Amino acid sequence: MFLKNDWYMAAWAAEVGSAPVARRICNEPMVLYRDAAGSLAALQDRCCHRGVALSLGKVIEEGIQCGYHGIVFDAKGQCVHIPGQDRIPAKAVVHYYAVHERDSIVWVWMGNPDEADLSLIVDYPYHGDVKNWPHREGLIPVKCNYEMLIDNIMDLTHLPYVHTKTIGGGTPTNVHSKAVMKTERMPRGVKYSRWLLDSVPPPTYAKAIDFPGKIDRWQEEELLTPSVIIQFTGGVDTSQRPRETGNREGGFGMRVLHCIVPETETSCHYFFSVSNGFGQDDPANTDLVYDQVYPTLLEDKVFCENQQAIATEFPDENFVDIRSDEARILYHQHLDERLANEKKLAKRDAAVSA
Ligand code: FES
Ligand SMILES: [Fe+2]
Repeated sequence: MFLKNDWYMAAWAAEVGSAPVARRICNEPMVLYRDAAGSLAALQDRCCHRGVALSLGKVIEEGIQCGYHGIVFDAKGQCVHIPGQDRIPAKAVVHYYAVHERDSIVWVWMGNPDEADLSLIVDYPYHGDVKNWPHREGLIPVKCNYEMLIDNIMDLTHLPYVHTKTIGGGTPTNVHSKAVMKTERMPRGVKYSRWLLDSVPPPTYAKAIDFPGKIDRWQEEELLTPSVIIQFTGGVDTSQRPRETGNREGGFGMRVLHCIVPETETSCHYFFSVSNGFGQDDPANTDLVYDQVYPTLLEDKVFCENQQAIATEFPDENFVDIRSDEARILYHQHLDERLANEKKLAKRDAAVSA
């Protein structure tokens, strides 16, 4: 079950041009495209004539033209042309989605497009701050329920086991398990900070900076349900005592945006961007950080896909929670509350209109 009344990332803005892009979001097939003026459109990827995917068609001046018999639909799904006839049947429409581009991201609202609330789009200004936070973007298809991948980030005690070659290596596992955690419920989700004090720089950090000794590392994650996680992580020399002084100058820092978007009940789109906070003048440094993060996320993919396969095989088995699950548990409480609320409102609306 997915929340409908919110925005989900549907694509990177650079992915969507005049060629139709097919994408399934929350188990709904949609086609995304831009018209000649660059405006975005998102329609259900199903022609109402014989039901083929509109993404097999092409974008023309009036809208998107179905590739099968040439019917044309505008950005609101209204049929505007039928080859060989003037009369357009009233039912010749396809569902459209509210769509909006911001911070290099294409967002779609999965609920009623008339109720789309632009104020709920998560701001991510770092994408536009190329001087301080040059970034690169990526997309990994993952065959697991999207909640499993969010769970993965809500419990970072997996780092020294899964990511030994990049962000989890170097430091003994007990430094990770004894990290100083602060977890908070937020109006739109969960936020936590995690400090790894007096740590050996992990391989990723050591590749970026020649640290003379140990570092204090911070990991800050803010989850905004249903599907966005804003991450800021880094480390500086322990002598700076960044946790007490707030001094995070120098050293290593990166911001990672995770948009973990349901495709089906058992698959998701893992959109991510890596914004580099050291040596920003040299694009090679941004490449270095990206080339560390990307394989790290592929390691998460292995574990989450395995978890999904086993969950499919044992659908009735439960899980056992441990201390490190705190943020993950708060996430599920928050999501469950939102889902229940949405269900209640839908029921009320149905009763009113009955
Ligand atoms: S199926 Fe689209 S025009 Fe016939
Ligand atoms: Fe991970």
